[in-house]
Amino acid sequence: MNTAADAVRYNDRRHVFHSWSAQKLVDPMPVAGGEGSFFWDHAGHRYFDLGSQTVNLNLGHQHPKLVAAIQTQAARLCTIAPWFANEARGEAARLISERTPGDLNHVFFTNGGAEATENAARMARLHTGRHKILTAYRSYHGATGAAIAYTGDPRRWGSEPTIGGVIHFHGPYPYRSSFHAVDDAEECERALAHLEQTIVFEGPHTVAAVMLETVVGTNGILVPPEGYLAGVREICDRFGIVMICDEVMAGFGGCGEWFAVQHWQVTPDLITFAKGVNSGYVPLGGVAISERIAATFADRAYPGGLTYSGHPLACAAAVASIQIIEEEGLLCNANRLGNDLIWPGLRALMEDHPSVGEVRGLGCFWAIELVRDRATREMLVPFNASGPEAAPMARITAACKEHGVWPFTHFNRVHVAPPIN
Ligand SMILES: Cc1ncc(COP(=O)(O)O)c(C=O)c1O
Repeated sequence: MNTAADAVRYNDRRHVFHSWSAQKLVDPMPVAGGEGSFFWDHAGHRYFDLGSQTVNLNLGHQHPKLVAAIQTQAARLCTIAPWFANEARGEAARLISERTPGDLNHVFFTNGGAEATENAARMARLHTGRHKILTAYRSYHGATGAAIAYTGDPRRWGSEPTIGGVIHFHGPYPYRSSFHAVDDAEECERALAHLEQTIVFEGPHTVAAVMLETVVGTNGILVPPEGYLAGVREICDRFGIVMICDEVMAGFGGCGEWFAVQHWQVTPDLITFAKGVNSGYVPLGGVAISERIAATFADRAYPGGLTYSGHPLACAAAVASIQIIEEEGLLCNANRLGNDLIWPGLRALMEDHPSVGEVRGLGCFWAIELVRDRATREMLVPFNASGPEAAPMARITAACKEHGVWPFTHFNRVHVAPPIN
């Protein structure tokens, strides 16, 4: 072993079992450090973090105030059981509640996004006394037992058969419409009609919740057309169904609002969050809960919990993150970066480059959709491609890295989701 990087690699390859990977085929790059929008390897190669790691690092690497808040909390009290009240926990819950729309005034803390979607669905089932959960194709809701069942992309396939009672529907995607729609308005109308029909055919009295990513993240940065979320809200109200917005990726500033749903002035019954709540400096997620659903568990015990629910280090990091977003005006900044820099840049790329079929997004949350042919919209690589079929995307990834950019790619897309500061 010659270098520090070799030592890191040595332990990693012998002992670390990596997510979503054939263990023999991965060779993770040892990372030595990071600051702001950049991180670097042991040889000093610097990379611009175009995807904010897993689209969680909204405040960039090593924000000094965030690091200091964790250090202060660590010196005071590292951990405390979930049944106690604690300053960091209470303050984080208050700050989050004050930023959610409507009366989502209660927060159940988890360790991450999957546990948040699991618990939101459980709350919806117990609240309604119904069992089915409707989620969209082209969605990701996490990789634990039920969360992977809610997921509407190929990551679910390897875990099937999953729990029953999960029904998938098609959400709006104007560029590749499942409804042969010609514009956003038609896509919206037809996607809502399809959702309503799915509910009717499933039996509305059996449907507990519609869970959807407010702005679909990994599956394409799909910004809902005007009227879609309001339409989902109306359908849910009409059938007594709980509306769950999964904001694990879209929440806490990436879309230029605390919660993306606030762009469309819609109030869901439950919001799931994680990632950007504290930029992942300490794992944290949660469910923001409306008064009505919280009331279900006023006199009846909620049958769920986690050893680290409301972990003080994670909550102190959330408190600091929210303060930093406010002090540094980062919601405005995300919109400014989107409107003044990312959108004009991506539009120019689209005008110049025949392989760019569409660019779309908002705030600091964008996708470049690559095609073989603009007229037919044939994807640059097939759906769920791997190995040789995915070679063109692998070449793009390699070229980005050669030029000091660490991209987040998925299928035929490059996602542009840098830190919002
Ligand atoms: C929309 C959405 N929901 C849920 C999750 C799962 O979160 P976690 O990986 O923290 O369990 C993710 C993760 O990428 C996500 O993007």
